[in-house]
Amino acid sequence: MFQSKIAGIGYYVPKNVYTNTDLTRFMDTSDEWIQERTGIKERRYADRIGETTTTMGVAAAKIAIERANIKNEDVDFIIFATLSPDYYFPGCAVLLQREMGMKEIGALDIRNQCSGFIYALSIADQFVKTGMYKNVLVVGAEKHSFALDFSTRGRAVSVIFGDGAGAVVVQPTTDSSHGILSTHLHSDGAEAEKLAMYYPGASSGIWLDSMPDWPDQELGGLLMTKEMLEDGTAFPYMDGQAVFKKAVVKFPEVIHEALLKNNLTTEDIDLLVPHQANLRISQFIQKTLGLRDDQVFNNIQKYGNTTAASIPIALCEAWEAGKIKEGDLICLAAFGAGFTWGSALIRW
Ligand SMILES: CC(C)(COP(=O)(O)OP(=O)(O)OC[C@H]1O[C@@H](n2cnc3c(N)ncnc32)[C@H](O)[C@@H]1OP(=O)(O)O)[C@@H](O)C(=O)NCCC(=O)NCCS
Repeated sequence: MFQSKIAGIGYYVPKNVYTNTDLTRFMDTSDEWIQERTGIKERRYADRIGETTTTMGVAAAKIAIERANIKNEDVDFIIFATLSPDYYFPGCAVLLQREMGMKEIGALDIRNQCSGFIYALSIADQFVKTGMYKNVLVVGAEKHSFALDFSTRGRAVSVIFGDGAGAVVVQPTTDSSHGILSTHLHSDGAEAEKLAMYYPGASSGIWLDSMPDWPDQELGGLLMTKEMLEDGTAFPYMDGQAVFKKAVVKFPEVIHEALLKNNLTTEDIDLLVPHQANLRISQFIQKTLGLRDDQVFNNIQKYGNTTAASIPIALCEAWEAGKIKEGDLICLAAFGAGFTWGSALIRW
């Protein structure tokens, strides 16, 4: 068995900056409300035309591949995590394979929302550890801005999310003192509808009490109608308080699970890079775990919540800023829609 390591990392965020004050042009909100509840100051939105989840993923992947000192044709497997794919199908991984002129390698899309990157990294780790692949490209990318409700009705959701992409190359290493120590994945579908986008979907025949009022079911789940846009059911739905309550329990739980598995404690963590869901959630986790400020990295203030992209963007920024040194113990942790959550411990 090999151990796997992150050999290269990169990120890309679109050039278009939208501050909280910019959002007041579209909805009744304020910089004060957004900063107080979420910590977010601004986020990036992709160009409406020409910039997609795949193109952002490609931009991040190019940097990760270059830093791993390999060529596109050396990549032997692609894992792409996103909840905002360019098409309903096929997924973004094959679009990236085409765009980057890669060989006819396997290409897998992961649909685990905010935990998507941890799930993708865990899968890459398994393939590399067993010796099946030598260069696995893992991408997390999102273009949320195309499907948010920017009216006052949708403000509790739309102010939180931003666009961007991050990528890593996972390779085998024979140096057992470095690399991915373990990954831990979980789910609980009991509250799946508390953070969800129902359309387009095939569930029109199913009625769940927990779902908000929908328009006439006869419309069919696969159709997006004008009525759905008008009454808001076409947009993502989030029970923010339910998400918050569950996240602040599951984040610390899955971090402790990873530490326990490796006979380590919170004091051993050099840097925790949590999924950037909400600054209040990150601060709650930090307090629960008794971590110092220098042990936790947050950048949600600049980018909002970029879902599957948030961890690789934050990890890359922290690394570029010199906050991650060789031998450091890095903890990644995420929680999101599904609900799904997970963690990874890495000896850098
Ligand atoms: C979304 C979240 C910030 C909302 O905060 P909250 O304190 O729960 O706010 P509520 O939804 O109860 O709304 C409180 C009030 O603010 C208003 N409000 C909601 N969004 C607003 C906005 N963007 N600007 C101004 N006011 C807003 C609501 O309409 C409500 O007004 P009312 O009291 O007059 O009815 C919070 O629930 C949260 O952070 N949840 C976790 C979400 C998350 O992390 N998601 C990512 C998943 S990985």
